[in-house]
Amino acid sequence: MTAGADFEALRPVGERVEQDLSELAGIRAPESGGWTRTVFSEPYRASRDWVRRRMREAGLDVRLDGAGNVVGVLPGLDPAAPALVTGSHTDTVESGGRFDGVVGVLGALETVRLLRERGIRLRRDLLVVDFLGEESNDFGLSCLGSRALAGELTASDLDRRDAAGMRLGERYAGFGLEPDGVLGSAAAFARHRLAGYVELHVEQGPVLEERGVGLGVVTAIAGIERLLATFRGRADHAGTMPMGDRRDALVAAAEAVLAVRRTACGAPVHGVATTSRLVAEPGSPNVVPAAVRMHAEMRSVDTGWLSSAQLRLAEEIRELAGRSGVDVEIDWSRDNERRPVSADVHEVIAGVAGSLGEPWLPVPSGATHDAVHLARLCPMGMIFVPSRGGRSHCPEEWTDLPDIETGIRVLAGTLLRLDQPRDTL
Ligand code: GLV
Ligand code: MN
Ligand code: MN
Repeated sequence: MTAGADFEALRPVGERVEQDLSELAGIRAPESGGWTRTVFSEPYRASRDWVRRRMREAGLDVRLDGAGNVVGVLPGLDPAAPALVTGSHTDTVESGGRFDGVVGVLGALETVRLLRERGIRLRRDLLVVDFLGEESNDFGLSCLGSRALAGELTASDLDRRDAAGMRLGERYAGFGLEPDGVLGSAAAFARHRLAGYVELHVEQGPVLEERGVGLGVVTAIAGIERLLATFRGRADHAGTMPMGDRRDALVAAAEAVLAVRRTACGAPVHGVATTSRLVAEPGSPNVVPAAVRMHAEMRSVDTGWLSSAQLRLAEEIRELAGRSGVDVEIDWSRDNERRPVSADVHEVIAGVAGSLGEPWLPVPSGATHDAVHLARLCPMGMIFVPSRGGRSHCPEEWTDLPDIETGIRVLAGTLLRLDQPRDTL
């Protein structure tokens, strides 16, 4: 049978997906709460070995690319046809959940098993990818593997240092990955001509559950701007310096935390902002804080709002700090730009959901994804399934198995449709 095959007959085997979810959830750092497989850690190495084994069992040709991504290839009938790509990630945040990223990797694996069991051969090669290190790390960079494939990881990124002072390049080497190979991976990947990328993911927010709809078809992925504000005040005796004469860096930072929140609360369409860390020095109980480093981020799918909000926030932080006699230096770095999905892929996903009789909603993504970077290489689309209570990046993260099965059916159908020559879509 070839790819013109009827996708409605592709039904995931729930027990098999559940077994995969449970085996992968068993691989985690024992000393941390929840599910922890952070990039470059030993549990992460073990989870990737597990993925490689499962890929082989599913009949994929498995390799590790130069960027450190685990890639399983299902060869197509026409070697000249541009390939399809699907997948996601199996790293987690510290004390995260069992579904973020995992659903996309396991959904892709189940799709391959269904195709093979029904004897369906795609025209195009299908690349199933477990991307390296999607979650933001101590280096302040998300999506290491997909970023590298898109040529968006630079030599200076490899010089970034984590809290322990280690360079990102050294971390790669310690994980058995050659930094030159990482930087060269974009050129190597460019040898593949790509027809499209589709990622299945949990929503990680409350919209689908609140609206009682089992599927989201993503419209755009939010841009992310990261802020490092360094406040410099003056150290003084905490017992003797009168309150009105202090230049307390932590008071200025505290005002800035509230300004971050106020800024996002005023977004007309979509905007969120989070302060995640304050490091105060000298940190002694009897010394007025002299310096503070504050880490925050702001996200929106509304590019115009995001850039004007950055300017307003920086202005407000400077003004508030000035009132406390504190100097502040503000540095912004962009994790990723807002990325719209391809209208064609969106339409195909929506069409497949419609053919299966599954209600769906168009939804923006506030979370970032490997899809952001694959979109630089080919048309991209994403399928969301509901997250209980909108919870994610925490141990309570949960998605019901029937919803995952529906997501896999839509993923499989979308890949079958995208396998056809473009003019027959
Ligand atoms: C990853 O989940 C992110 O949105 O930062
Ligand atoms: Mn994710
Ligand atoms: Mn995540």
